[in-house]
Amino acid sequence: MDSIQVEKSPLLSGDVHISGSKNAALPIMAGAILFDSPLRLDNIPDLADIQGMERLLCSMGMETCYHPEQRSLDIDPTRIRWPEAPYDLVRKMRASFFVLGPLIGRHRRARVSMPGGCAIGARPVNIHLKSLECLGVNITVEHGYVIADASQMRGGLVNLEFPSVGATENVICAAVLARGETCIENAAREPEVADLADFLIAGGACIEGHGTSTIRIQGVERLRTEAYSVIPDRIEAGTYLAAGALCGGAIRVCGCRARDLTAFLADLRLTGCEISVESDGNLDNIILKRSSPIQPVTEIVTLPYPGFPTDLQAQMMAVLCLAEGTSIVRETIFENRFMHVSELNRMGADISINGNTAIVRGVRHLSGSPVMASDLRASAALVISGLVAQGTTEVLRVYHLDRGYERIEEKLAGLGARISRVKIHPSSTVR
Ligand code: UD1
Repeated sequence: MDSIQVEKSPLLSGDVHISGSKNAALPIMAGAILFDSPLRLDNIPDLADIQGMERLLCSMGMETCYHPEQRSLDIDPTRIRWPEAPYDLVRKMRASFFVLGPLIGRHRRARVSMPGGCAIGARPVNIHLKSLECLGVNITVEHGYVIADASQMRGGLVNLEFPSVGATENVICAAVLARGETCIENAAREPEVADLADFLIAGGACIEGHGTSTIRIQGVERLRTEAYSVIPDRIEAGTYLAAGALCGGAIRVCGCRARDLTAFLADLRLTGCEISVESDGNLDNIILKRSSPIQPVTEIVTLPYPGFPTDLQAQMMAVLCLAEGTSIVRETIFENRFMHVSELNRMGADISINGNTAIVRGVRHLSGSPVMASDLRASAALVISGLVAQGTTEVLRVYHLDRGYERIEEKLAGLGARISRVKIHPSSTVR
């Protein structure tokens, strides 16, 4: 398994270009199940999770073809033979559960493995299942599989007890081809949910209110489109901005959407960064400069969108490790999302945890060491911490990073970071 080796780096400078959003692309690929003719998706990042979703769609009988140079994906959804997501594929990638709503919508039946917990929390699917039952879908759970019979499905009122991103996406996909009107209250407002709705609308779906807490869907007969382009990845953009804030210097994060990062940018400014935005039509370049010491932030609280994103919590904590004072970080979305803390402390950080709150006391410097990545965003936090740590940091278990960051070592090296991937050949591993 490869590792990433990071050396203490100079101030960062230059441009970095942002890829398409993984968390928008995955439900959109699943949403392609609803269409009755082939289509092309553009701005699809070249990532392990995308390949995982392709494998799942192909296992059902669909055809996909990824063109890495164009970052485009051709999907032919017309030949689904088995509306089923097996355990072996779902356990490797939770987002596989996003096929449930589209299979129900298009095929009126589905058999999808229950996902297990993961490093950041138990992550149950009770809200997904309860919401689909509100549309008249009959759900049973047998032998670790969700079995859905949607022969009696019709539009209905769904009131989510928590604005779950995945549950909102599954309900939207189930409802677009259902008879009658569906209203989702307390819906997730994340930009990725809105992008899924925009994709379905491009295919003829009748959806209003996406991006707000109340989404209304009027069922239509069929969906058909030729092409759709996915939004840029706000979490990838935020990760490079955090790297710039931590290392200092001046960087330009190109081809993203500043409006998707409002809460994060507000907190990053409090650390002493100067941030400005250049707009080019729909897309922005965010320019970040830091020349003064990092300031602590009284309290950062992760919340559903438009609040501070949980997917940027670890990277922000890495920045605060070197602040001139104490910061508080409160995680309210996932119950176990402080796995990076013990690794940051091994690098010399001073972080203590009390329940869902981390107290980050700024230190003068970090020292490089071998560290173990536990999940995708924690890995990114360890990589950017390595850029300011004395000596060498080796980040192990790089497959987590490869799930969600396209060529992270090349992009950071382009900003002047001293970073490389170390290929570990199977023959050199100890048995
Ligand atoms: C998505 C994102 C993930 C992000 C998260 C929150 C993808 C592929 N993943 O995950 O990167 O961190 O949104 O922004 O898009 N919950 C329940 N019951 C349910 C569903 C959720 O209790 O049925 C809980 C979860 O355990 C978690 C919280 O709700 O504590 C948020 O989960 P949710 O919004 O559903 O996140 P995902 O869609 O899984």
